[in-house]
Amino acid sequence: GEQDARYLISLIRSVPGFPKAGVLFRDFMPVINDPRGLRIMLRALRLALPVPEDSFDSVAGLEARGFLFGPALAANLGKGFIAVRKAGKLPPQTVREEYSLEYGQAQVEVEVSAITPGERVLIVDDLIATGGSAKAAADLVERCGGTVAGFSFVMGLDGLEGTASLGPIPRARS
Ligand code: PRP
Ligand code: HPA
Repeated sequence: GEQDARYLISLIRSVPGFPKAGVLFRDFMPVINDPRGLRIMLRALRLALPVPEDSFDSVAGLEARGFLFGPALAANLGKGFIAVRKAGKLPPQTVREEYSLEYGQAQVEVEVSAITPGERVLIVDDLIATGGSAKAAADLVERCGGTVAGFSFVMGLDGLEGTASLGPIPRARS
């Protein structure tokens, strides 16, 4: 409820100037570190799904922070997990996308065999800022033959145009 939401927000740490000057870094790691916070967050993600839980087949999470709760959420929903990995770590055959972040650039990959044709995928991450990471993940899911059912984020960043780049696919913030 209301109290849980307040508690969750109280755990998110704000770090000015990290990882570079001008960025106010919202750090959700203390949520993962806290037993009650972790439970509340997983429950909130499940309650705030952008689409019904029977309208997707699997959960895809973005390295690194989407790996910290994506598999737990997937297990709670009785689904499998797809790793959207930073480039160069997965054996072939993979597809790769490059994108820009608020504080840099990155490349991510998905193993083609991790997704079956027509598989409906929910993409999860801790935070949406510019939306570049989520968009890259969505493009990879589609290049592997899947479809993106929706996006779930623990939080969004005000002032960054994040969600415009994701188009009309349903999304939720917990
Ligand atoms: C952060 C965050 C999201 C992404 C959001 O990850 O966890 O994945 O940036 O930014 P965007 O909406 O502008 O794409 P980061 O790439 O810093 O990697 P990390 O999880 O390995 O720290
Ligand atoms: N916190 C965590 N990840 C981020 C942020 C932030 O403030 N901005 C872009 N990615």
